[in-house]
This record gives sequence, structure tokens and C-alpha cells, in this order.
Amino acid sequence: MPKGAELELPFLTMEEDAFAADPFPHFAMARARHPWLARWKLGYVVTDYQAMRDLFVKEDRMRMMFDSIVEIMEAKGTRWGNFQERHMLSMMGEQHRRVRDVLAPAFTPRVANHNRALMRDVINTLLDAWLPEQSFDFEEFASYFPITVMCRMIGASPEVIPGLRSAMEAIGLSTSMDPRWLPAMQEGVATMEDFVDGLIAGRRALPHSLEEPNLLDLLMQANEDGGITDRELADVLIFLFVAGYDTSKNMLTLAYWELLQRPQMYRRAGADYDYAGRAIEETFRYHATASNQRILNEDIEYRGVVLEKDSILWFPLSVATRDERYAENADNFDPERKRATRHLGFGLGAHICLGQYIAKAQIQEGLHEICRRIRNPRSPGPLGYRPFPGTWGLRGLPITFDTQAFA
Ligand code: HEM
Repeated sequence: MPKGAELELPFLTMEEDAFAADPFPHFAMARARHPWLARWKLGYVVTDYQAMRDLFVKEDRMRMMFDSIVEIMEAKGTRWGNFQERHMLSMMGEQHRRVRDVLAPAFTPRVANHNRALMRDVINTLLDAWLPEQSFDFEEFASYFPITVMCRMIGASPEVIPGLRSAMEAIGLSTSMDPRWLPAMQEGVATMEDFVDGLIAGRRALPHSLEEPNLLDLLMQANEDGGITDRELADVLIFLFVAGYDTSKNMLTLAYWELLQRPQMYRRAGADYDYAGRAIEETFRYHATASNQRILNEDIEYRGVVLEKDSILWFPLSVATRDERYAENADNFDPERKRATRHLGFGLGAHICLGQYIAKAQIQEGLHEICRRIRNPRSPGPLGYRPFPGTWGLRGLPITFDTQAFA
């Protein structure tokens, strides 16, 4: 059986700006040359939906690569390096199961639905503040939404939001593997550590009424009961911000951009709440933002190929269902499509997105209110694109608009 290294595989230049501007034709060409595997400068790229499903769940045979990223960046022992090695996606096995079990009750569909009124309130408060401008950068606007929701869910003061936003922007560069960003990433982690240390100390000094415990109360209770250590509590709190920030912001911005180009759909998403939900699902199928990676602990045989121990596998979840084999007219954005394979935008297996119900509720509430209140938007188009590996999305989306809400 041939080894991956012996195959002539299509080569993807995923790190290039031109690739990020339109990744999909590159993947279509790669699939035409090999049905499920390609290569780029940092390992293999799995290009087929079913292969992603089959391989991504082999967790006992793979590991995360955050410690390798820290080594490549020569940042071992630093605050950023330590955070990368300790956060929830780096946890494996028993520690991961324990921490996930502690968090799970706070991330059920019921909890997400319970927070919908809070999410609506947050987006409407943001719209009240931004709409008088008559024009703004939608991506920047959208970036305040997930942070503000998370702050409200843990009872943090809104004053911290601008500082946290800058920290999130910096930490979001972590998978870039570009040492130029290291000082900013170190500062971002320091800001977040100081913030959560202060939050935890404040709550210990002045316990919250537990009649209706919020997310912070639940996590602190788990810490008191011995379910998670002090260190894990702080890391988890930081990671909840990090994991929900550019993912949610980029998905909301992509969904908005797709609707903005289709005025009929746009108006319907503002008038019909369920339709806004379908538009989000279609955006996930059309271009979810995440690409995740794993390192193989051993050789794995798959579809007649041996993928070698210690090689890196990239899973661009963002392109899995933009493929004729899994969705008819795959390049057609259609929130009403009847049949499509379930998207992989939230990952798979043991590390599947813990915040997926919150994320979906948040984006649906947000998109519906935004399309209801921002009327007749115009845009020259995105200013650029986020790097494809990591969390892809638009970089800047200027809009002008009218503001009267639909009836
Ligand atoms: C549209 C928004 C979001 C997308 C596309 C997304 C996507 C993902 C993906 C693909 C993973 C798996 C990564 C991997 O296996 O390597 C993941 C994990 C995770 N996400 Fe999300 N996410 C989103 C929003 C959120 C939000 C809002 C939160 C928190 C409230 C959150 C919390 C988490 C956590 C804690 C994990 C790690 C789970 C674990 O290690 O067990 N995510 N997310």
C-alpha cells in the first residue's frame, strides 16, 4: 500500500491571500486530481466530506498540535505558550472528559434558548448605538456581539469589552505561526488572564445570588466541588471568549454578506425569524469558517493510502459541503434547499463545539434583528479576507443603509 509521501498529490497554497479570497475553486481542482487528499506546506489536507468524517473521529490515534505550534514559535514557558498548551482544545483523554462533563450542563440547547432574550437585547443595544452612523464596517460591528453576550452570561462589566476585543483580535492570530504577531499575542493572553483573575476574585469576595446562577456561578461551583482546578477554571473562562469570538463574528459577517447580495432573501430574513435560521444553516453549508488540524500518533491506513506517523492532517471543515457530491448545485446559496448533507462547521467527535447551541442561537437572533433594522444595505464588498487556515472569513465589510425597520 503506497505511503502518502509517495503519491503525486495536488498542492494547495492555503497561506496565500489570493487563496483566501476564493478558496473553493482550488479545492474543486484538487478533488479532480485526487478524490480526498491534497498537500500543503504544513502537511496533508483532507478535501472530501466523508474522509473528514471518517478520519476526524480517530481521536485515539491523533493528537492536537498546539504544543508543536508553541515550539515552532519558540514560545515555550511564556504566557501565550502556556495558554496554548493548556486550553480546552489541547486537553485530551481523562482531563478533557472531566472538564467537558463539568461544562456540558451550561451549554445545552435549553440554556442557549434561555439566553435568546439576552442575545436579542445585546444586538438591539448595539444597533441603537451604531445605526445613527448610517454607514459602518459590518465586521467591526459584528465583533462586539459575541463578546458582549459572553460578558452578560458571566456578569462582567461592559467597560471591559473594548480591551477584551483587542485581546481576542491578537489571540486569534495564534494559528498564523507568524512570529511577528507573538508580542501582540502575549499581550492578548496577559489581558485575558488579568481579566479572569479579577473576575474570579471579585466573585469570591462578593458571591452572586444563586437563585438564578449564571455561567460564572456554575463554573465556580464546579471549582468549589473539586470538578475543575483553579487553573482550569481560569483557562476555560478565557477559552470560552477565544473559541466564540472570531468564529461567531466571521459566520455572522459571511451570512450577512451573502444576504446583502440577495435583497429578496435579505428582506425575508428580517421579516421571518425561521427563515433567518435557515439562512444561517445554509451559510454553514456554503462556507463555515473553521479549519482544524491534528498530528498522527501512528500510521493510519485509509482508502488504500498509508498516512504516516507524525504527519499533520488539516481538515478544512469550511469546504466539506461545498461539493456536488454532497449538495446539489453546491455553489448556489439557497436557504430553502431541501436536501443537503449535514455540515461540519462545528467539528466532530470528542471536541465538537461545546458552544454550538449558543453560537447558533446568537447568530440567528443577531441576523434576524440586523436584517429587520438595517434596511436596503449597500456595500462595495469585502476589503479583504482572513487567512484560510485557522478561522477564515471576511476582513472588513463596509456598508451604508437606510434604518427604518420592516413592519
Ligand atoms: C459560529 C461560531 C462557532 C464555530 C464555527 C465554532 C466551531 C468550533 C469547532 C470546529 C470546534 C472544534 C475544534 C477542533 O476539534 O479542533 C469548536 C470547539 C469549541 N468551541 Fe466552538 N465554534 C463557534 C462558537 C463557539 C462559542 C460561541 C463558544 C462558547 C460559548 C464555543 C466554544 C467552544 C469550545 C469550548 C470548544 C472546545 C470543545 C472541546 O475541546 O471539547 N464555540 N468550535
